[in-house]
Amino acid sequence: MRNLDQYNITQAVLARLSQTPDPRLKQIMTSLVQHLHAFAREVKLTEAEWMAGIEFLTATGHKCDDQRQEFILLSDTLGLSMLTVALNNDKPAGCTEATVFGPFHVEDAPRVEHGADVANGAPGEPCQVRGSVRGLGGEAVAGAEIDVWQADADGLYDVQREGLEHAQGRAVLRSGPDGRFHFRSVVAEPYPIPDDGPVGDMLRATKRHPWRPAHLHFMIRAPGYETLVTHVFRDGDPYLDSDAVFGVRQSLVADWVKQPDGSTTLDFDFVLNPVKP
Ligand code: BEZ
Ligand code: FE
Repeated sequence: MRNLDQYNITQAVLARLSQTPDPRLKQIMTSLVQHLHAFAREVKLTEAEWMAGIEFLTATGHKCDDQRQEFILLSDTLGLSMLTVALNNDKPAGCTEATVFGPFHVEDAPRVEHGADVANGAPGEPCQVRGSVRGLGGEAVAGAEIDVWQADADGLYDVQREGLEHAQGRAVLRSGPDGRFHFRSVVAEPYPIPDDGPVGDMLRATKRHPWRPAHLHFMIRAPGYETLVTHVFRDGDPYLDSDAVFGVRQSLVADWVKQPDGSTTLDFDFVLNPVKP
């Protein structure tokens, strides 16, 4: 095909994809080309703007290394990560809702017993976290693997502290025979997502802040149930309605309660979705 113009080039590209053997790849590539071309037409993309976009994506790639995934951060801040979570975790009413995984999970966090101090030296106000893991039918889920991770009072995860050799604010424990678990930690605080790269530039250019409301991350796995990746958010946080990555669900907001003896406690019960037979 020759002499392609703004009116027939989209069809020409789609025709070039028509022999793609993998049907899902064909569907995704076809839709991607249609939407990209429609976007360029809608905004009447200039050549300078196209080049600025190429440079932005190049800088995003250059910012990535073993510790930093700027493309995921871009997806998070554009709401694509949370949209993908929502599209793939449509659980029955009563199940705990899922939210974004985030970049700060670590494989092989220390395995601890109930009552352990997960903070392990991380700065912050001490708190007790207690909860249970149940199935949708109300049954206790014994032996569920509960992977928890959180930022400390400085808004930092242990992996963001240069030179820190041991885990802080993260651990893996198992629910007891009654499905219950408890551990000690520090009260979660809000923190800004990393904004010293191209994603930070994008946030500033669009007058957005980089803050996430205070939360604990949980990943809960048990045989016979769908794995749950979620957070528990802290009620009263000023960023609950403007989370930089759009991850807040009202059902995941809980109270860190000040007790009469001065201690702080968080109680949260998780409900897992059984895997369909
Ligand atoms: C987090 O909650 O750890 C997180 C999620 C998305 C982007 C950055 C951080
Ligand atoms: Fe987080």
